[in-house]
Amino acid sequence: MKAIILAGGSGERFWPLSTPEKPKQFLEIFSEKSLIRETFERLNYRLEPKDIFVVTAEKHKEQTLKELPELGIGNVILEPVARNTAPACFVGSLIAEEDEVVFILPADHYIPNKEKFWEVVEKGIKAAEENNGLVTMGIKPTRPETGYGYIEAGEEVGNGVMKVDNFREKPNHETALEYLKEGNYYWNSGMFLWKKDIFLEEMKRYNEDIYNTLKDINPKDVEEIRKVYLDLRKISIDYALMEKSERVFTIMADYEWSDVGNWVSVREMEGCSDGKENVHLVDSKNVFVKSNKNVGVVGVDDVVIIETENGILVAKEDMVNDIREVYRKIYK
Ligand code: GDD
Ligand code: MG
Repeated sequence: MKAIILAGGSGERFWPLSTPEKPKQFLEIFSEKSLIRETFERLNYRLEPKDIFVVTAEKHKEQTLKELPELGIGNVILEPVARNTAPACFVGSLIAEEDEVVFILPADHYIPNKEKFWEVVEKGIKAAEENNGLVTMGIKPTRPETGYGYIEAGEEVGNGVMKVDNFREKPNHETALEYLKEGNYYWNSGMFLWKKDIFLEEMKRYNEDIYNTLKDINPKDVEEIRKVYLDLRKISIDYALMEKSERVFTIMADYEWSDVGNWVSVREMEGCSDGKENVHLVDSKNVFVKSNKNVGVVGVDDVVIIETENGILVAKEDMVNDIREVYRKIYK
């Protein structure tokens, strides 16, 4: 098996910790290690470094190699521009042998239990091999989140593997609420397993343009990628393939998981800051602070306050995703 870490996101929602030079995967959020380092170590628990690859932006080459010194440059696939995850999954999958299993995963998720993670991955590898399908890992939903893909699980085909009847990327709030009530819908964790040949077949069927542009390139040759990448359609694998293919399967991922989407998801894991020595609240509750300075909050509830060398953020809890707009104003 080859594991492909997708590390091309921008992490706009983690400003002022993240910047264009330091996107989310390089942030140290839950430990002294960056999220991409944690992801690598989770894989390295069972896989050798030679079978672990990263797809990232050319400008993040040095930093990626610095974070993951076990990898040679041959294990880092470089994109001159971001074209979202469908092209990134494609160039990543090209690394594998014809019917070898490819494991695609994001660089920036939080999954603390390696043992449990691998139990599910092993099942997924089997499922990809036995069903000749595109295998997703479903997470039991707990809220009508509109930032995720939803998997409608159908008939069980054995060993806890279910056929997916319907995949819906980022539904609106109403639809997400309905899915939550139905009970047989799961969140897409953003991790996928497939055999290379099956993936290529499905890409050819539903995204012939991307298939034709990329099918013959050598993913390790940065010049070849440069020549074709600009012309590619920007589309995520969820819209490009998961919503379309009739060969999608799912297995339940019962490990602790978070996609660390924004500051509120960090607060959910770390708790509020009222107990911190440098945080002083007066008539304020539900306050999350990251700063080394003394911070006083008076008469303000449900707020996120972050101070780093890049700037200071004060955001109402229910609007933290709009930090993007601040980021875009600063780095336009
Ligand atoms: N190499 C590369 N190039 N990586 C990319 C690119 C790109 O152009 N765009 C995004 N990525 C990486 C991100 O860094 C992240 O690790 C992963 O691909 C997923 O991209 P996101 O942009 O974070 O996707 P999302 O969160 O909106 O949605 C996906 O993940 C959800 C779970 O976290 C989808 O798969 C959803 O269905 C899913 O629920
Ligand atoms: Mg994400």
